[in-house]
Amino acid sequence: MDKIFITRKLPEEIVQPLREKFEVNMWHSEETPMDYEDIKKEAKDVHALWTVLSDKVDRELIENLPNLKIISNLAVGFNNIDVEAAKEKGVMVTNTPGVLTETTADLTFALLLATARRITEAEQDIRAGKWKSWTPMQLTGMDVFGATLGIIGMGRIGEAVARRAKGFNMKVLYHNRTRKLEAEQQNNFTYVELETLLQESDFVVILTPLTPETKRMIGKKELGLMKETSALINVARGGIVDEQSLYDALLNKRIWAAGLDVFETEPVPLDHPLLTLPNVTVLPHIGSASIHTRLAMMQINAKAIENVLEGQEPDNRVV
Ligand code: DGY
Repeated sequence: MDKIFITRKLPEEIVQPLREKFEVNMWHSEETPMDYEDIKKEAKDVHALWTVLSDKVDRELIENLPNLKIISNLAVGFNNIDVEAAKEKGVMVTNTPGVLTETTADLTFALLLATARRITEAEQDIRAGKWKSWTPMQLTGMDVFGATLGIIGMGRIGEAVARRAKGFNMKVLYHNRTRKLEAEQQNNFTYVELETLLQESDFVVILTPLTPETKRMIGKKELGLMKETSALINVARGGIVDEQSLYDALLNKRIWAAGLDVFETEPVPLDHPLLTLPNVTVLPHIGSASIHTRLAMMQINAKAIENVLEGQEPDNRVV
């Protein structure tokens, strides 16, 4: 019987159907991640490895799992997996695109609005007993309606964010590796060079995958091009932004604010300098976290694993 190992405790309603056909083992905890050595040990003879985005699946691990046929990642991003090594070893890698598009776009907009209107800061003030009177300029933020939105990485989620921006009468600029001419016409957004996007946007939203090309693509120089009244929103991967440069830019009011759902190290350490700044709104990587979407993502992983172990081609192959 083929063996599956799941690196995080998932709902039994999703896992049960696989148990009927395969030998399934699963990590005991939903909250505590497995460490690298444990995955290596537990997954030694498995045919399918079901991972989450915090698991590092590098060449060494892949080469240590001789029976492995598929790695299915519970995320659309797959920067945690060495896909080249997987390809060389003939191991398929699948992800969960599509089902999380609208959910992640909702969260992107929620974070943008929260950052612009200082929502979490306002709530913290109330709870800390700081609301003493209505004050003319207290907690004043930036307008979203009619502002310019710059989207870096115009994939499915970028397009879904741009659609929401229409309702806010925003001008939408985007930068992407390739131009999307049809979508530009349908949705009335404009392709610009990165430099122009940074110079002209009130809200810069990062939605590009983390790759060697995008690693730290937003650093001192790029932040220096942004307006002093602008905000940076990152819902993609922490590694795309140089966090030290972002901290400096926010501290020195080079830019006005940031909204971050992702960090270079996750969970973000409590003593991280960015957490000391009032003009940073932070979330714990919850872009796709709706009940419906997370279950749909898991169903996609389960189906891909089942397909591969039954000799069929899975959907959503990355390699
Ligand atoms: C993804 O799917 O890559 C998200 O970051 C997880 O919510």
